[in-house]
Amino acid sequence: MLEKTLLLRSIFVTKQKKFDSLGLKSEIYRLEEGVSEGELLRLIDQINNDDTFHGILVQLPLPDHIDSQKVIHAISPTKDVDGFHPENAGLLSIGTPRFVPCTPKGIMYILKHFNVELDGKHVVVVGRSNIVGRPVSVLSSLKSLGNATVTICHSGTSDLKQFTTQGDIVVAAMGSPEFLDASFIKEGACLVDVGINRIERDGKSTIVGDVNQASVMGKASALTPVPKGVGPMTIAMLVENTVLSAELSLN
Ligand code: GUN
Repeated sequence: MLEKTLLLRSIFVTKQKKFDSLGLKSEIYRLEEGVSEGELLRLIDQINNDDTFHGILVQLPLPDHIDSQKVIHAISPTKDVDGFHPENAGLLSIGTPRFVPCTPKGIMYILKHFNVELDGKHVVVVGRSNIVGRPVSVLSSLKSLGNATVTICHSGTSDLKQFTTQGDIVVAAMGSPEFLDASFIKEGACLVDVGINRIERDGKSTIVGDVNQASVMGKASALTPVPKGVGPMTIAMLVENTVLSAELSLN
């Protein structure tokens, strides 16, 4: 047993509060659940053509009647501060990123901040979403950023434990409450818990991650807590991407 698992913490503020506190303009458009795809696309087009906005984020998931890919494609790639547009995803995948998706960017930031070495290490990512799993696996493998060896596991992986127990760093991003317990990791592994799952416990609604945090204490060398781990970094990176967009617009 390790004496202690280091908690890699950050501080939570809402998106709008963060922008306000920095003197940056932000506008929230709260649309009805039943809004048509056409109406949403028209709003995006309007903001694409409004020079007073440098970034657009459409909160996902969208209702089933709206085609998310169509919406993501409609956002101008130069205002796509989420980094989900194929142009930005492509730039990342060839190693010349412009807007990096906020959660993976935040994960890389946390690991760097707490001096978690990736170079030559084995990063095991559980989850292959375009929002977290896939981009974080690309970032960790890039020579300039991580230079790690990366394994991506997903719902089709058989014998998940065989892979996760090899990870020096394990990124849990599959959306299964408290799924990864101590039996899934090796002693001294650093765990990045990306899960935000609302569950009922003792008659109360509570948020838990994808890692069973109590179980891994003393076995993991470090762990991002839930809440106040990765989540707030996503918002910080959204601000960073928006400022980057404003800078790029001047060129
Ligand atoms: N839903 C969960 N994470 C994200 C994110 O990073 N961006 C957007 N747009 N929606 C999300």
